[in-house]
Amino acid sequence: MVELRDFTLADGRLLAAWVEGPVELWAWSGQSFSWPLDEQQLAEYAAESATPLRRSWTAWDPAGGQAVGHASVRVDAAEASGRLGRVLVAPEARGKGVGAAMSARVLGHAFGELGLERVELGVWDDNSRAIRLYEGLGFVCDHVLRDVVRFAGKSWSAMQMSLTRAAWSAGTGSGR
Ligand SMILES: CC(C)(COP(=O)(O)OP(=O)(O)OC[C@H]1O[C@@H](n2cnc3c(N)ncnc32)[C@H](O)[C@@H]1OP(=O)(O)O)[C@@H](O)C(=O)NCCC(=O)NCCS
Repeated sequence: MVELRDFTLADGRLLAAWVEGPVELWAWSGQSFSWPLDEQQLAEYAAESATPLRRSWTAWDPAGGQAVGHASVRVDAAEASGRLGRVLVAPEARGKGVGAAMSARVLGHAFGELGLERVELGVWDDNSRAIRLYEGLGFVCDHVLRDVVRFAGKSWSAMQMSLTRAAWSAGTGSGR
């Protein structure tokens, strides 16, 4: 349903187009980026993605060839752990299983060639679609950082979720 290719700066304009405003940017990436998502931030992100510290992918639809999503894993090789983040599906492709298929492929890389034993992530606790996506892949909530930051006039709470290689290998997730 989707294929992955390495993210490069050439795909950066897709990210900028898929994120429609500052609150959506925040919901997607927290404090990682600031609005507007400009060329300099994207260049720094692409450069980091070309190091062993991070892998980032563009998901594309083999049927039509168009890009449909983005995801990234920050790698802690010493701990054999990673942090899944920047999970984003093109607005017109949402709600069709693209996020689940893309994330399953990313986890295949994380637990495969990257050799990770554990993948973590953080998601705002009001992002029900993303939480459902991650739970479908087998992630469980370890704890909630309640009212951890204020932005856009409200407090935000972050669910911290994780998935181990053992749980992934057991294949209980529905997203693949
Ligand atoms: C979150 C996001 C990546 C999900 O991608 P998607 O392609 O729309 O999701 P999918 O179609 O694969 O659906 C994933 C799951 O969410 C469920 N879902 C879909 N829409 C939903 C909704 N509005 N509310 C709750 N669950 C929903 C699906 O039913 C599916 O669950 P299931 O497998 O149990 O049926 C996408 O909506 C997005 O890019 N959002 C903006 C950026 C963002 O919030 N990123 C996450 C940062 S942590």
